[in-house]
Amino acid sequence: MTQVKDGAFLHEDNVKEIFASLKFRHLEVKNRLFRSNLSGMFDEYNGYGGHTRLNWEEKFAKGGIGCIISSYTPVAVRGRILIRYAMIDHDDKIPFWSEVGKRVHAYGCHFIMQLSHSGRQQDMGGVENLYRKALSSTSQKDYFHGILAQAMTAGEIRQTVEQFAQGARRAKEAGLDGVELHGANGYLITQFLSSGINDRTDDYGGSVENRARFVLEIVRAIRKEVGPDFHLQMKINGVDHNGWLYPWKKKGNTLEDTLTICKLLLDDGKGVDAFHISSGSTFPHPRNPPGDISVQNLRRWYGGMLNSGVRARFNFAIFNNPVGGPLFNWLWRLRRGSVIEGINASYSKYLRDAITQIDPSIRFICTGGFQHANEIAKVIRSHACDGVSMARPLIANNDLPKILREANGPIKGKECTYCNKCLLNDLANPLGCYEVSRYPGDTFDEKWDNMIEEVMSVFQPPLFR
Ligand SMILES: Cc1cc2nc3c(=O)[nH]c(=O)nc-3n(C[C@H](O)[C@H](O)[C@H](O)COP(=O)(O)O)c2cc1C
Ligand code: SF4
Repeated sequence: MTQVKDGAFLHEDNVKEIFASLKFRHLEVKNRLFRSNLSGMFDEYNGYGGHTRLNWEEKFAKGGIGCIISSYTPVAVRGRILIRYAMIDHDDKIPFWSEVGKRVHAYGCHFIMQLSHSGRQQDMGGVENLYRKALSSTSQKDYFHGILAQAMTAGEIRQTVEQFAQGARRAKEAGLDGVELHGANGYLITQFLSSGINDRTDDYGGSVENRARFVLEIVRAIRKEVGPDFHLQMKINGVDHNGWLYPWKKKGNTLEDTLTICKLLLDDGKGVDAFHISSGSTFPHPRNPPGDISVQNLRRWYGGMLNSGVRARFNFAIFNNPVGGPLFNWLWRLRRGSVIEGINASYSKYLRDAITQIDPSIRFICTGGFQHANEIAKVIRSHACDGVSMARPLIANNDLPKILREANGPIKGKECTYCNKCLLNDLANPLGCYEVSRYPGDTFDEKWDNMIEEVMSVFQPPLFR
């Protein structure tokens, strides 16, 4: 291996690192590149999968990614964050997911389903959830949008654990390659894990061991359903950074807390096979997806949230205020810090170093900003992680794995700018890259037309012709 300058390596050495296969305990992926979870409202209102999602997932497999980790997939309708997301709440959803698996397997790409439950972070839960408080570890409302919540009873906990287990069984029956628990970014599992959110006084609150009880019960229930050999991983916050918006709120879990949780989830070799490291106890959060938050887009799309949380109108007024809007944007950037590419790498390294000493077969995937071969090879080489997951850079360049084989990254003007316009549009519009400057054209109109054509291409070919 040849080091050329400032710790950088020859491109061919980076390519060897990135395109070496990755062995998990029960799964082998052809390279170190994972498509990170990317939700989009592509499906039927009632959670049945649609042909658009097939097209969506297929294009990343075609682009050379080793494994796709699905979008947020609710295990129950009460766990939905937005309408039009395909669910896994019933056996009659299995055929759709089976088709997704077949489509991506055709390219030698694996598919892991993200089993998810919103808890109180239920942005727009749909008409089924209209007059109900969201289930959570706590009866405190979510502190950003103000979504009302009620602390789950022991019976509701048991029922939800079972819903996760059945979701995993269905994923296995659909022929998918594994499941991931969404234990990061403020959803139900985080609401139990986080010391900044969980205020229970029963067996599921208090000590870190008690807070981890809910997810450990889920892991055990899943293993009972799918056996020891089906791939199971957990997306988890390295650090919660729970006080990002209101500094007087509790900070939430530290790296040490997370390490304790990870150790518990090994469950003496019978638990999880891998961890997917993120950060931030809400979604979105300045650290996730790390980047900007365009006030113009917030003003345009946040209106959809007005009927969701009791604080949404207040937030909307702030975003529309000539001083409040820019101030929010400033706070957002300040809280994120200066590093975007590899923002969670140091958390992943700390956890990986400690966990692999206990069990060397456990693998780590790190998310956050990756789109250059130098940076990706660096984190793998330094043992911060075994592979990286990418979301926005792949929306911007669906064939990024192919690009990374040839060059350090996309050419100038084609990179993902981390503007997060994809995220904000996602509340109302089809998921895609909405950074107009990235599109060809001599005038704004031309660029805009090209952007719309690209975004809408996910609907092609149409179902009926
Ligand atoms: C539009 C959008 C939708 C996302 N949906 C999910 C999701 O369903 N589940 C999840 O765990 N993360 C989700 N994320 C977070 C990404 O998976 C990823 O971890 C994060 O964006 C950082 O990676 P990146 O810098 O490569 O985008 C989403 C991000 C974006 C931008
Ligand atoms: S809109 Fe495009 S450039 Fe901006 S963050 Fe999303 S994918 Fe990247």
